[in-house]
Amino acid sequence: MNATVTPSVAKQPVSLIVNNMPETVHVTPRTTLAEILRDHLDLTGTHLGCEQGVCGACTVMVDGRPERACLTFAVSCEGAAVETVEGFKGDDLMDRLRAAFHRNHALQCGFCTPGMLATARDLVERLDTADEVRIRNELSGNLCRCTGYVGIVNSIMQVIEERRACGLPCTGTPRLDRAPPTGFAPFDADIFKQPSAPAVSSGTMTVENGWSVVKREVAINHSSDTVWAHFSDLDAVAACLPGAKLAQHDDSTFEGHISVAFGPIAAKFEGEGTYKTDDSTRIGTVSGRGKDRGGQSAVEGELSYTVRRAQGNPDASVVDVGFRFRIQGILGQFNRPELVNGFVDYILGEFVANCDSVLSGGELRYNKGISAFTMIRVIIAGKLRALFQRS
Ligand code: FES
Ligand code: FES
Repeated sequence: MNATVTPSVAKQPVSLIVNNMPETVHVTPRTTLAEILRDHLDLTGTHLGCEQGVCGACTVMVDGRPERACLTFAVSCEGAAVETVEGFKGDDLMDRLRAAFHRNHALQCGFCTPGMLATARDLVERLDTADEVRIRNELSGNLCRCTGYVGIVNSIMQVIEERRACGLPCTGTPRLDRAPPTGFAPFDADIFKQPSAPAVSSGTMTVENGWSVVKREVAINHSSDTVWAHFSDLDAVAACLPGAKLAQHDDSTFEGHISVAFGPIAAKFEGEGTYKTDDSTRIGTVSGRGKDRGGQSAVEGELSYTVRRAQGNPDASVVDVGFRFRIQGILGQFNRPELVNGFVDYILGEFVANCDSVLSGGELRYNKGISAFTMIRVIIAGKLRALFQRS
């Protein structure tokens, strides 16, 4: 039998000052600052959420600047002064922040709180005035899953005012006692990259007698003949739809399922329906209903689409999409216009990108289930893009 041999990696000593105490730990090159704080020094107030720099739960002060302990290699901290949430006892600003967090109900489970406090203290020390927009912007790297940000932002604003009232000056620009980390080239944040073709050019969403009614106009860079042929093939359409799987169909009826995940709520809607296409008008209609396996949610809806030639371009098409649906049960809580709009645009974007790829002779990009996390990220990205385009 062959045994797997894992090569041992030499450990090296790293000396640093943690909460005013000199510490030396022996670590491998890949050990992170978060690991030495939690596993070597038992400072478990530094929390780990995403471990990829997104949530900010692991934020600690390194040489007076907030840094992500999950992304910082321990060996790069040689000689650094590190302050964790345990080390701020008796620190005036931190004590004021703790009191303000308590007063403003700025924490619930408290998981994000150590990282929030580190960032908050930096803001209180650095910002001249209590500018809410700036605070919200600078706090955007710290995520709170349960409390929301109103209490946190209010706490920071109040402590900035308290600091000013005490006549303490702000520090202004961050201290840079240590060389900033290098090694990564600048990159565009993912959030500004389109995850799919910018398919949806216009549309509305209304609620009529309990039904959500969505209208969209979708551009596809292929001729209307090609697009209609594709849209007339139910297997091809289902393959391009994220999360959808066709179990069986004949000329007018189908059975299948579609998977949706809203954070902890995952639903697999199994259903059936009817469809028809009209070659003369190039109009297709689909109606169906489905229930998720746990029986906690049900959805019914009707979809219609019309494929037409794009004006002035015989090699491009426009598809008018109309979707009317209602959701009952636990997923009904997500039936809000903003989420529905984002949901529809996300699905259409992925769907059109898949259609485009297939019609260009390529392969399906992927057919994962629909994830609310991805969807919400796309909604936020869309809002940010709109904001930046306006300014
Ligand atoms: S654990 Fe470090 S940013 Fe999330
Ligand atoms: S208080 Fe629970 S995550 Fe922020």
